Amino acid sequence: MTNVVVIGAQWGDEGKGKIVDWLSERADVVIRFQGGANAGHTLVIDGTTYKLSLLPSGIVRKGKLAVIGNGVVIDPWKLADEIEGLKKQGVDISRENLRIAENATLILPLHRELDGLREQLAGKGKIGTTGRGIGPAYEDKVGRRAIRVYDLKNPETLPRKIERLLAHHNPLRKGLGVDEIDGNKLFDELMGIRDAILPYMDSVWALLDAQKRAGKRLLFEGAQGTFLDIDHGTYPFVTSSNTVAGNAATGSGVGPSTLEFVLGIAKAYTTRVGAGPFPTELHDEIGRRIGERGHEFGTVTGRARRCGWFDAVLVRQAVKNSGMDGIALTKLDVLDGFDELKICVGYELDGERIDRLPAGQGAQERVKPIFETVPGWKESTYGARSWNDLPAQAVKYIRHIEELIECPITLVSTSPEREDTILVKDPFED
Ligand code: GDP
Ligand code: IMO
Ligand code: MG
Repeated sequence: MTNVVVIGAQWGDEGKGKIVDWLSERADVVIRFQGGANAGHTLVIDGTTYKLSLLPSGIVRKGKLAVIGNGVVIDPWKLADEIEGLKKQGVDISRENLRIAENATLILPLHRELDGLREQLAGKGKIGTTGRGIGPAYEDKVGRRAIRVYDLKNPETLPRKIERLLAHHNPLRKGLGVDEIDGNKLFDELMGIRDAILPYMDSVWALLDAQKRAGKRLLFEGAQGTFLDIDHGTYPFVTSSNTVAGNAATGSGVGPSTLEFVLGIAKAYTTRVGAGPFPTELHDEIGRRIGERGHEFGTVTGRARRCGWFDAVLVRQAVKNSGMDGIALTKLDVLDGFDELKICVGYELDGERIDRLPAGQGAQERVKPIFETVPGWKESTYGARSWNDLPAQAVKYIRHIEELIECPITLVSTSPEREDTILVKDPFED
């Protein structure tokens, strides 16, 4: 295998960034293919923390090419800030190691504003978005009125594009009681940011084709997680892109056969940030303890993440939705010291046992988890780097999960640090 896709198997924040960073030693190109600055991927390398939102995690390793594919929605101002921030941390960023798809959609200030307005107006029905304008930008993409990266290069056609965009947004804004957007002002704003973005612009599909033909290894970095997927997630409490593995092809311009090994990332428990159903959520002291031990606060918004037991029903569904070949189980160390642990092995819906998350919003809210209780372990797994360093009960917990989710666990992560990772089976060598 030469190409690997990394996908979140829960509701995001599974530790994709850490695992992509760790795997990127073996890869040549790291590609983001969906989402935008709603993602927050944290890497810890020899004590230094890097927080990435739009940039692929491969950017921190010398000699790797980082690529932002067409499926990503790019806020050019946020991207420029992120590039500057990382440069200050000593990361070299130039056209040598960063390319951005010319056909990717731009997020504009009006998208961020609309995201906030919609959430305010939704009252109790609010999704709890990251406020980054993700939903409104994807709406404009599908509505065929988006401004794309390439448009920054064409001041002649840009006014026409802006006119088309504002023909939709200004009546909407008027209805919502906010000021209309002045097209000339938006034009000037875009001209003001173009020099920060255009140096990286490229035809990403052609670049990836050339890289493949040169025998390079591609590593696709998913953002969010399976249950935030616009089709397969807990709709409408989802993000606005497909987060499953199939979108790695569409979102970067390669064919599906390029996606050779799909690695799902799952925490040894479950978290969710924002609103929406969460069957195994804990509202008690145990939930708070997991949150504290796991430092479960959102990277992007700083919100406390909701915590619960590992849900094998959900992860098994994620395995199927993305055709996962292996799972990296992360944050095992957070479960150290519990007398017993619970694993959700099925749901009860209106008195009947079911083995999958139903599609309906009401049913998703009503399902009750059926738990199995297993013994915990007293020893520390923090920083363990080999299977032999794990206590017997932790190994049993992993093996049991593996059975329940119908997918082998091929990596285990035991701390935020890059090297605190146990390799069971190398996805690149599968
Ligand atoms: P991502 O969005 O999937 O990349 O995940 P985030 O970076 O948002 O959240 C994962 C958090 O857990 C980050 O702060 C990581 O540094 C941290 N982390 C990752 N793996 C481990 C692990 O195995 N143990 C512990 N304790 N922390 C981890
Ligand atoms: P990473 O890549 C966790 C959640 C938001 C909200 C919903 C919709 O770090 O795993 P959006 O701003 O996308 O319209 O918000 O999705 N969300 C995430 N939750 N991790 C993420 O990314 C997320 N990106 C979006 O909290 O519930
Ligand atoms: Mg995150």
